[in-house]
Amino acid sequence: MRIMITGIDGYLVLPLTQHLASLGHEIAGVDNMLRRKMVGEMGSLSAIPIEPMAIRLQAFYDHFGDKLRFYQGDVTDYSFTYEVMREFKPEAIVHLGEIPSAPYSMINVHKSNQTMMNNIVGTQNLLFCMRDIVPDCHMVKLGTMGEYGTPNVPIPEGFFEMEYKGKKEVMPFPRIPGSWYHLSKVHDTQNIMFACRIWGLRSTDIMQGVVYGTRTDTFKDDPRLRTRLDFDEAFGTAINRFACQAAIGMALTPYGKGLQKRGFLPIRDSIQCLTIAINNPPKPGEYRVFNQFEEVYSISDLALKVKEVGDEIGLNVQINPIENPRVEKEDHFYEAEHRCLLDLGYKPTHDMKKELRFMLEDLLPNKGRISSRSHSLLPSIRWSGKRDKCRPL
Ligand SMILES: NC(=O)c1ccc[n+]([C@@H]2O[C@H](COP(=O)([O-])OP(=O)(O)OC[C@H]3O[C@@H](n4cnc5c(N)ncnc54)[C@H](O)[C@@H]3O)[C@@H](O)[C@H]2O)c1
Repeated sequence: MRIMITGIDGYLVLPLTQHLASLGHEIAGVDNMLRRKMVGEMGSLSAIPIEPMAIRLQAFYDHFGDKLRFYQGDVTDYSFTYEVMREFKPEAIVHLGEIPSAPYSMINVHKSNQTMMNNIVGTQNLLFCMRDIVPDCHMVKLGTMGEYGTPNVPIPEGFFEMEYKGKKEVMPFPRIPGSWYHLSKVHDTQNIMFACRIWGLRSTDIMQGVVYGTRTDTFKDDPRLRTRLDFDEAFGTAINRFACQAAIGMALTPYGKGLQKRGFLPIRDSIQCLTIAINNPPKPGEYRVFNQFEEVYSISDLALKVKEVGDEIGLNVQINPIENPRVEKEDHFYEAEHRCLLDLGYKPTHDMKKELRFMLEDLLPNKGRISSRSHSLLPSIRWSGKRDKCRPL
């Protein structure tokens, strides 16, 4: 299949591209190298050293031959996106090329606008190009479980049924997102749903949980193909930051009560799920939602898991909660359906401890890199708009 992937330089996409190329698919990879620039703006770097794109591409060709065409450019540039689509004529688009950070979008009006413009306009451009060039193409779009927020009722997969005067209606489940970034994803969701309804396009909107891990099943033992792992307050997820703190002997810093719950899945499972979505396209005109996560943990559970694994390998990990810079529920109900991918054959790996052990093994040789930017591990971006370091509780 001809698959166009946006965000090919990103955390998830490089391993996904390797996997899809190893299955014989032809790939057009797009990226504007924005992630590298934004992590630099946060005064940080990837804990695991990553190569410039030219070297990554050479490594890719060495292992997978000519399965990949790389297009450097910005999907918010309509002419660029149009040209790539016209030349490559994708049968599927996996759209991951967005700004993925809630804290980054909360820094100030400029970062909020940048996130909105980048994410919403990029998706819009792809939808219009699909309509005009490849109307049968299937868009697999990466959204987030954070679109739903944390309501006090179970979260279905995108839709729920309402009944009025004996008639049933399927309605989109309400979204109560927690940041401007999450809102950009909600707007994408509405726009994609509209394009499917009006133009007969087809799309799978993936509400993905937090992805973690440094290794995948198609991981070639070639350092040029390693994927990034960020730990700064904007682009490092809680699990990444805890693992990096454990690696350099710094106490783990869960926010507030630490009872905030989220869905998680390892990167190898994310790749498995995205491949299943690509292989099982919806019907023309169909917009469907998959909730993509494996297990639910609270932030305290995560800190305890990292401590457990760290202590097993002799790290003596401490946990010191700090003020919560976010405005969010710290102790809440959380239950979300996630059946669709299981029904299509997803086999969860269920081994967070093993993945954490791999992460720590990959991080320990890079302690120096993490220590050199350890200031970026403690948050200062507050949802209130103030900018100062959070204090220990
Ligand atoms: N990693 C997670 O835990 C997670 C969880 C839920 C959802 N997601 C979503 O999955 C997607 C990928 O996440 P990731 O962690 O790999 O992020 P990432 O930032 O590592 O990758 C995104 C890539 O897209 C590129 N990009 C951004 N805007 C672009 C544009 N306008 N044009 C071209 N390229 C652009 C960036 O340079 C980057 O390389 C994102 O949409 C994110 O919101 C990720």
